[in-house]
Amino acid sequence: MTVHFIGAGPGAPDLLTLRGRDLIAASPVCLYAGSLVPPELLSHCPPGARIVNTAPLDLDAIIADIAAAHALGQDVARLHSGDLSIWSAMGEQLRRLRAMAIPFTITPGVPAFAAAAAALEAELTLPQLSQSLILTRTPGRASAMPTAESLAHFAVTRATLAIHLSIHNLARVVADLTPAYGADCPVAVVWRASWPDQRIVRATLATIEAAVAGGLERTALILVGHVLEAQDFTESSLYAPGYDRRFRPQDAMSRFAEPGA
Ligand SMILES: C[S@@+](CC[C@H](N)C(=O)[O-])C[C@H]1O[C@@H](n2cnc3c(N)ncnc32)[C@H](O)[C@@H]1O
Repeated sequence: MTVHFIGAGPGAPDLLTLRGRDLIAASPVCLYAGSLVPPELLSHCPPGARIVNTAPLDLDAIIADIAAAHALGQDVARLHSGDLSIWSAMGEQLRRLRAMAIPFTITPGVPAFAAAAAALEAELTLPQLSQSLILTRTPGRASAMPTAESLAHFAVTRATLAIHLSIHNLARVVADLTPAYGADCPVAVVWRASWPDQRIVRATLATIEAAVAGGLERTALILVGHVLEAQDFTESSLYAPGYDRRFRPQDAMSRFAEPGA
């Protein structure tokens, strides 16, 4: 018996990996985080599968459910939205499963920030503008932030930011970022990226609050950075015609040239 943690992707049912789909199809039990996992994914469950929405359950109840499947020798597909490596609550489940010697596997998924970047038709790292992407959030009712991880602290880098779980804190985001990024810095809010009702609001730090005006709640990502509107950025060296590299040696004298070629 194995618990298969599966990243269910950002919303569109076809943004699930083939491995994830096959594991769901092979597992007689499916536990899914119902608040964000698209219900269409449950159609991959085998006939007669026991399907449990874990949104109303606490951790003890979830682990008890897994333990019951373990006692029966039944594999479990455990679905969380996006990828499992960020804000999935997988870590605490893994700790319990390790303590109980219950085996598990982990299958990554498409994270929401990647779906939002695709919706914006944007590369979030551009030469000389930003070479880092910071995945972060602001404090929530249930989650304080480590003190060194404040937005104002990250703002010093002027890196691209993907701010999760924070659309209700938009005023605070704007206030914390404006001194370092500038009021004209581009901002995009992507609501329900990849869902059929996806919405995008583009503005600047100065105008984003009015542009959103309370219209987008909960499942939204705030992306901030000059990469979002940049058109005059430098091209990368990777594909520059004269750039000598392992896969494209420039001539026989190149340190990458095959001997005798
Ligand atoms: C609990 S976190 C889950 C993150 C997820 N594990 C991931 O890999 O993206 C939920 C937050 O992710 C963001 N999010 C998740 N799905 C989204 C989507 N389809 N569009 C926009 N933001 C999304 C929102 O900021 C939301 O508040």
